[in-house]
Order: sequence, then C-alpha cells, then structure tokens
Amino acid sequence: MIVPRLIERKRDGGRLEPQEIRELVLAYADDKVPDYQMAALLMAIYFNGLDRAEMNALMEAMLESGKKLDLSRLPLPRIDKHSTGGVGDKTSLILAPLIASLGVAVPMMSGRGLGHTGGTLDKLESIPGFRTGLSLAEAQSQVASIGCAMLSQTDEIVPADRKLYALRDATATVEVIPLIAASIMSKKISESLTGLVLDIKRGSGSFLPYLEDELELARAMIDLGERHGVPVVALLTAMDRPLGEACGNALEVVEAIDVLKGGGPPDLVEVTMALGAAMLVLATVASTGNGAREMMHDSIASGKALNKLEEIVAAQGGDPRAVRDPSRLPRAAHQRKFNAKRAGVVQSVEPRTIGYGVIALGGGRRNMEDTVDPSVGFVISAKPGARVENDQTLATIFARNEEGLDLGTSILEQAIAVGDGVPAVLPLVSHRVTARGVEEL
Ligand code: URA
Repeated sequence: MIVPRLIERKRDGGRLEPQEIRELVLAYADDKVPDYQMAALLMAIYFNGLDRAEMNALMEAMLESGKKLDLSRLPLPRIDKHSTGGVGDKTSLILAPLIASLGVAVPMMSGRGLGHTGGTLDKLESIPGFRTGLSLAEAQSQVASIGCAMLSQTDEIVPADRKLYALRDATATVEVIPLIAASIMSKKISESLTGLVLDIKRGSGSFLPYLEDELELARAMIDLGERHGVPVVALLTAMDRPLGEACGNALEVVEAIDVLKGGGPPDLVEVTMALGAAMLVLATVASTGNGAREMMHDSIASGKALNKLEEIVAAQGGDPRAVRDPSRLPRAAHQRKFNAKRAGVVQSVEPRTIGYGVIALGGGRRNMEDTVDPSVGFVISAKPGARVENDQTLATIFARNEEGLDLGTSILEQAIAVGDGVPAVLPLVSHRVTARGVEEL
C-alpha cells in the first residue's frame, strides 16, 4: 500500500477499493500510517465524498479494529436509539429504562457534549456515583441481568473510529455525511443490535441544517444497517428550539424523571413516545405504533419504567435514591427568573445560543480537560408561538454565583425573542425514513 497514491486518487475524484480502505484503516489504527497522511485523505474525502461501497468498507474496517459487545446469545430483541445531537434532548435517559422495562434489551452507548449539544454521559454523571465507563464484560453482564446498560465508547470498541474522530475534529473534517454515517454505525453495529432507531435533528440547532442532508444521512445509515442485518428506522425531529424545558445536566435528569413519573413537557413526551414506539415496533414486541404507546403509558403508570431506572442507577454505582428524590441531585445555589419585557408572541428560542450558554455557565466543556458543573443551566418554559404577557416568567437561570446569573440573563436576552407575528416552527416529528423510503408525517 502506497498511501500517497491513495490520497492522490481520492483527491482527483477517483474511488478506493474496499481492500485498500481496510488495509489503510487497520494500519492507521495500529499507528503505522501517520496522522498527516490520514488528514490529507480525510480532506480529499471531505471534497470528493465516498460512495456506498467505500463507506461500508470504512465502517467494516473500523469494526474490525476492535471488539463487539457480544449479546447474540441473549434471547431478547436488542434495540438502541441514537440522536444526531441537540439541546435539551434527554430522550435517551427516558427511553433506556422505559424500553428495557418492556422486555427489550437496550445496550446504549452514548457520547459527551459535542459543540453546542449536550451529551447523555454528562447528564448521567450528574447522578452521584454513576459510572459510565463500563468494561465490555461489565456491560454484557448488566444487559443480560437487567436488560440495559448505559455506557461510553470503551477503548475496546472501534478504536479506529476513536482515533479517526479525534483527527477529524482537529482537521475540520467532521461534517461529511459518509464519515458521520460510518462512524456512528460502526459503534451501533458493535452493540450486536437487532434494530436501531435514529433521531435525526432538523433546524438551526442541528449539525446538518438542510433537509436534503438530513435525509441523505438517514439513507446512508439505513444502507449500512441493511448490509449488516440491522434494520434502521430514522425519525426527523425538530431542533429549531430546545426539546422540553430543562437545558443543563442535572436539570435534564430531573425532567427525564418527571416523564418517567407520568409528567413532563408535552413536546418532550411526544418526541420520546414517537421514538419509543419505533423501538418497540422494530423489536416486534408491539405490532402498531398505537399499541406501543399504550405499552409505554402502562409501564409509566405502573411505576415499572421508574423502577428500571432505579435498577440501572444502582447497577452502575449511582445513588438510586436520587430517582425518587431528585433533591439528591446537584442543584445550583443561585437562581433567577427571566421575565418577558413586553406582551406578544414568542418568536424564537435559539437552541445554539442556549447550548453554548449552558457551556458558558460551566455546564459543558470548552476544552477536553474541563470539568462539567452538573448543576447549572436553564429551565425555559417559553415556546415559539406561545402568547405571553408583559413580565411573565419565560425561564429560570441556575448558576454558581451572581456573575453566572448576570451571564445567564444576557444569554436569554439573545436567545429568546418576543414579537408580534406568528413564527414558523418545524413539526416535532416530520419524516420517517426506512429502507422502503421517506414518509412525510
Ligand atoms: N458522532 C459520531 O459518533 N461520529 C461522527 O462522525 C459524528 C457524530
């Protein structure tokens, strides 16, 4: 293998053979190809793309670089859900216990906050003692015993993806649909799934703001799943405003627990139910979406879903009492209300501004080494399209000190606009994409 020849061919718009991709990726994972050559190739891919066979070869090579979570002997359907990332998106915290409470194994490998978006691992770690760094063996035995494990990507799983993702992050080559699809699907296929539900976010707070790109990403991941016997259903959901009300790690855990107790904001409940119904139908434990919704309502009403969360928290070293008594979660010492300065209609609640705002308050990372303050953030009751009165409370800021409250106030002033017109908002769940095609909902 002569790496400069491969870079040259991709630079000039040619294609690489699957065997060439395999050799290159495995050599890179093994530190036998330097970062500068791989970076040049990634940039050539950024401009010239990968076809479906090249993308599949990349994903297979990444899978081959590590080990799998072997759950194939488990006599249960195994379903995960993956989101492309948003603000206030705590659906994983609800769906993992809810779906596991209904006889489906949920091996859920999640990420940390990326850019302006929050990460499930950071949210879980706001529960005192909760450990997300499970080994493969621990995750396997936990899924077998209680039906669910919520873990970070370990060193053993797709190490080539870890290395490539870090290089992409450092070389401005993250936003390439076939690279994103291969990266996400390599991790999902390594979980031995029997089905996967994707939540592809749309709108100003998503990573891919154009509908055509969102659909293309869905199709690419569905294609990879099909090639490996994992049916994939993608739902396109709104991220032109935060999902639910809470934005910030511990605040989002509290809101997720509210949903598991039968409450929670209606938009969050609706998106969670749509994703959960897709998971249960894929698992074939429900035959229709309506049947699946009934099962989920019953599990919540009977307390089974909340009990499952308690079990997961206890199994992963967390304080299970925090599930019944959220006052045991970290809570910011300083709070301040943010009120409307005029009567009118909420025009926008800009998710990127809110997401970066949570980071500015200390609830996310500016650098990899930063520690996250789980207690800070916002609870924003204002929704675009809602009529509000002068001085009505639109949000509450949770901060470490008075300075944080002032910062939070200025962030909300930028993020929330009140005016007179009727704003255009995206439908909460707009499209379903499967191997059969795209359905507008
Ligand atoms: N998340 C991933 O795991 N990989 C990507 O490439 C992008 C988002």
